[in-house]
Amino acid sequence: MTRAINLDLSHSMVEGAVLELESEIRAAHDHLHNGTGPGNQSLGWLELPANYDRQELARLQASAERIKTTADALVVIGIGGSYLGARAAIEILTHSFHNQLPRDRRPGTAIYYAGHNLSSTYLRHLLDILEDKSVCVNVISKSGTTTEPAIAFRVFREWLQKKYGPQEARRRIFATTDQAKGALKQLALEQNYESFVIPDNIGGRFSVLTAVGLLPMAAAGIDIGELMAGAGDMMRATALPSLTANTCYQYAAARNLLYRQGKTIELLVNYEPSMQYFAEWWKQLFGESEGKHHKGTFPASVNFSTDLHSIGQYIQDGLRLLFETVIRIGQPRLEVTIQPEPSTGDGLNYLNGKTMDFVNQQAFAGSLIAHADGGVPNLVLNVPKQTPYFLGQLFYFFEKACAISGYLLGVNPFDQPGVESYKNNMFALLGKPGFEAEKQALEKRLKHTLISGERFDKLILPYQF
Ligand code: PA5
Repeated sequence: MTRAINLDLSHSMVEGAVLELESEIRAAHDHLHNGTGPGNQSLGWLELPANYDRQELARLQASAERIKTTADALVVIGIGGSYLGARAAIEILTHSFHNQLPRDRRPGTAIYYAGHNLSSTYLRHLLDILEDKSVCVNVISKSGTTTEPAIAFRVFREWLQKKYGPQEARRRIFATTDQAKGALKQLALEQNYESFVIPDNIGGRFSVLTAVGLLPMAAAGIDIGELMAGAGDMMRATALPSLTANTCYQYAAARNLLYRQGKTIELLVNYEPSMQYFAEWWKQLFGESEGKHHKGTFPASVNFSTDLHSIGQYIQDGLRLLFETVIRIGQPRLEVTIQPEPSTGDGLNYLNGKTMDFVNQQAFAGSLIAHADGGVPNLVLNVPKQTPYFLGQLFYFFEKACAISGYLLGVNPFDQPGVESYKNNMFALLGKPGFEAEKQALEKRLKHTLISGERFDKLILPYQF
């Protein structure tokens, strides 16, 4: 690998102690690579950058080309692991105002998202702005039964059929789902949608480098070959158990050491607003993987310098439970130079000729020292540039760090039993067959709230245009 993201632990307060975890790390590595740890049926992501299906990728690229030439807008329907990775990549790698640019000034289709919330207002507003556009849909759901995307897809199916007729609507729908099971798979087979597979052995939050993330990215004009090359290089760079040579494992070790010292909240920090959804992807990855058995570092995120003006006070001076992992981009995609001005009224002439990125880097350096002085350890991940190649490295780096970190913590990083609790309650309250007793019990407990199972039926389905 010619260039790699690297980790600076000099302000982490545990730099000297990381090597103490050498044998724990080696054990976690062996479990992961030998498939002897918990969740070992979900390790398809581990060597995916080396052995992904090239034919499927070529078909995916062809579909992305068809979307780019057919559609002004692609609606990506999915939630959680079936949504956040694609959005993270698209926000990081495309123009900050991608959707607003004229078509000849952006490399791909405009991308919109649905099925990641239950807001009827959001859906109505989205349909409003799509009214005059040529639209394709990529519905993504591994289980094929998740409520949010299933409702959004029902709405969009009907909308597309009205707009284009059944045959053309079918041509405009791309389904990414399980190979064999689930309602979406059945529908895709019946309707003959162009379909892509989420392998059985790759869980939602580890699926960004499958068709789940790659089809929307390619439709947005992102070079997914470069992304996979970056992921592949990081896979090879993190293949050895040696802590000294493996920055990914150093990160996993450092955050576990900090957790053991009571630093139970990790803030992922960025200085580029386009990284915000990357933080959302990262929060799901670590939150769902580690938050089990009343354990786990709580993953949170901040966007600097914006949030230095809001919760910066807490970080500097509040409860000392925090540590920060800063993603520092070495070189901005575009630059602005502060031009000299005859008037000195704004007090900025000491910055004449400096770039905005220079100012941003000083904000980073100043906050690093201030927060470390305030008792907040800082881990810094240096990313040379905001490119598909380095993003591929970052995705893989965090996936592997998360797996190793989960094993160090003593949990199964690949399941998510806790997510089912709210879903079961929601199904019961909605009146899903099979949940009758739970519905009665829950309604008794909710008698003083405004929630009513009827609201859903009356206002959302059937959808009227
Ligand atoms: O990581 C996970 O398993 C979840 O976030 C899922 O990705 C999310 O719930 C969506 O599930 P599905 O793809 O089955 O619709």
